[in-house]
Amino acid sequence: MVWQKIAEKDSIEKGKGIEIKVGLKRIAIFNQDGYHGIDALCVHQDGSIAPGKLNGCVVECPLHFWHYDIKTGELLDYLKGVKLQTYNVEARNDGIYIDI
Ligand code: FES
Repeated sequence: MVWQKIAEKDSIEKGKGIEIKVGLKRIAIFNQDGYHGIDALCVHQDGSIAPGKLNGCVVECPLHFWHYDIKTGELLDYLKGVKLQTYNVEARNDGIYIDI
C-alpha cells in the first residue's frame, strides 16, 4: 500500500463526492464526516456513484438509486453480501491522500 496525493486540501466540498482515477481504477472520494474512498462504479450498471446524493454515510447511485454505505462499501439494497472496495483517505497539510 502506498499513500498517493489525489487532491488539494479543501478541494472537495463537504457533503459531496468527486471521482478520481488511480491507474485503471475509478474511485469516489466523499467528504462526509471525514474523507472516504470507495470504488466508484455501481455494481448494477457501472454508473459512477461519485456524484450521488449523500444521506449520512449512505450514497445513492444517480442512475437507478441503489444505495451504498460509503464507510464499508456495502450495497444496502437488492443483493446481499455485495461490497465495493473501500480505501483509507486522509487530509494532510498539503493535500488529500489515498492509501492504494
Ligand atoms: S447503475 Fe447504479 S443503480 Fe443502476
